[in-house]
Amino acid sequence: MLETLPAASPLKGELTPPGDKSISHRALIFSCLAEGESRVTGLLDSEDVRATENACVALGMTVRRENGILYLTGVGSRGLSAPSAPLDMGNSGTAMRLLAGVLAAQPFESELFGDESLNQRPMTRIVKPLTLMGASIETGQNGTPPLRISGSGSLHGIDYDSPIASAQVKSCVLLAGLYADGQTTVTEPLRSRDHTEQMLPAFGVELVDGCGVSGGSRLTAASVHVPADISSAAFFMVAAAMVPGSDLLLRNIGLNRTRDGIVHVLQSMGADLSIQDQRRQGGEEVGDVRIRYAGRLRGIDVPVEWVPSLIDEVPVILALAAVSEGTTRIRGAAELRVKESDRLDVMARGLETLGVGLKEYADGVDVTGGVVNGGRVDGAGDHRCAMSFAILGQVAGGRVEVEGAANINTSFPSFARDLAAVGGCVNDV
Ligand code: S3P
Repeated sequence: MLETLPAASPLKGELTPPGDKSISHRALIFSCLAEGESRVTGLLDSEDVRATENACVALGMTVRRENGILYLTGVGSRGLSAPSAPLDMGNSGTAMRLLAGVLAAQPFESELFGDESLNQRPMTRIVKPLTLMGASIETGQNGTPPLRISGSGSLHGIDYDSPIASAQVKSCVLLAGLYADGQTTVTEPLRSRDHTEQMLPAFGVELVDGCGVSGGSRLTAASVHVPADISSAAFFMVAAAMVPGSDLLLRNIGLNRTRDGIVHVLQSMGADLSIQDQRRQGGEEVGDVRIRYAGRLRGIDVPVEWVPSLIDEVPVILALAAVSEGTTRIRGAAELRVKESDRLDVMARGLETLGVGLKEYADGVDVTGGVVNGGRVDGAGDHRCAMSFAILGQVAGGRVEVEGAANINTSFPSFARDLAAVGGCVNDV
C-alpha cells in the first residue's frame, strides 16, 4: 500500500524517469527477430518489460548486460525456436498482443497467458485480423487469454481497417505481416502511438504505404536508445502543476507526437510548461520538460482527437481535474474500460471517496474541481490509477492511503522513491 500526506514544501529538482515501456517492448521483440547483435540503452527495468524479455529468451534470443547496456543477439525472423512451456505475459497487454502477431506466423504451437487482470482483457481485437491472415488461434471464454496459437507457415497479407485506434492491434498485425505473402497495411480511426513504424526502419524494414510492411522483410540488428517514458513523466508534470511553488526539470523525455497529449492538456489548462533542448534520438523526438507551478489550473474539454495521444494519462488528468477550477470533460475514452482495470470506474470510485464531484459516462468522465479530502482508495491493481491517487494525495486535505498499488512495479518501480526525492510525501507501507 502507498500512503501519502500533503506535500509539506514545493517539489523541486531534476529527474530522468525510467525508459519508455512501449519502446522497450519493441526494442526487445525486434532485436529477437533480427539477425546479429543489437545494442539497447535506457531499457525500462520493470515487470512488464521483463515478461517480454523472458518470452524472447524462450524463443531463442540471448541477452548480455554490461554497464547498463543490453546486447541482444537475435535469431532472425525464421530462427525462433518453439518455447518449451506456455509463455507468461504477466500484466502486459503489449507483450501479449505484439508477441501473438509474431507467434501466429511460426511453424510451431505456442500458448500465451497472463495474470488475473490480463486474463480478462479482450483479445478478439487481434485474433480477428490474425485469423483473416490465415492464423489459427483459440482463446478462453469471451475472447480472453490464454491464447493457444496453432502456428501457421503461411499467412497472407491484408489491408486491415482497424475499428479502434490501438497501437497494440496495429503492431500485432504489422509483425504478422512481416511473415505474410504480399503486403500488409493497417489504417485506424485516429492515429495511435507509432513506435513500431518509427523503429522498424532502424532494423532495416522499409515501410510501405505509410503504415504497412512487405512479407519476407528481414530485420537486421540495430542500436536503440530508449528515451524516458512520457507516461511516467506525466505523474511528475501533474504533481508540479498542483503543488504550490514547485519547479521540476524532467530530462530526456520521449516527445513523440503520438504520445504528447499530456503536454497539450497541461498547457491548455494554464500550466507553465516548456520544452528545452528538443532533439531527435534514434528516430524518436526527445526533450527536457520544465514545469513550474502557475496557480490553480482551469478545467477544459479534452478534444476527442487528442485521446489516443494521452490514453494512458487519462487517470492522472482526472486527478488534476479534481483540484482545477471548473469542470474537465473527457469523452471518446471507452478504451479505458478495458485497460489493466476499468480505469474510468476505478478513478471515479476513488475520486468520489475523496469527496470529488464527478459524472461518469460510458466513454468518459466529467470532473469538477474542488476540495479533495484524505481517505482510503483502491488502485485496483492498476499501476496508473494507483500512481494518480498518490499524486493527488500531495494536495489532498489529509492522509491518502492507496491500496492495490503493487503493480506500480509493472511500469515505474522507482515511483515512490523518485517522488520522495523531489520533495513529495509518499511511503510504501
Ligand atoms: C501500447 C498501446 C496502448 C497503451 C499501452 C501501450 C503499446 O494500448 O495503452 O499502455 O505499447 O502499443 P492500446 O493499443 O490497447 O491502445
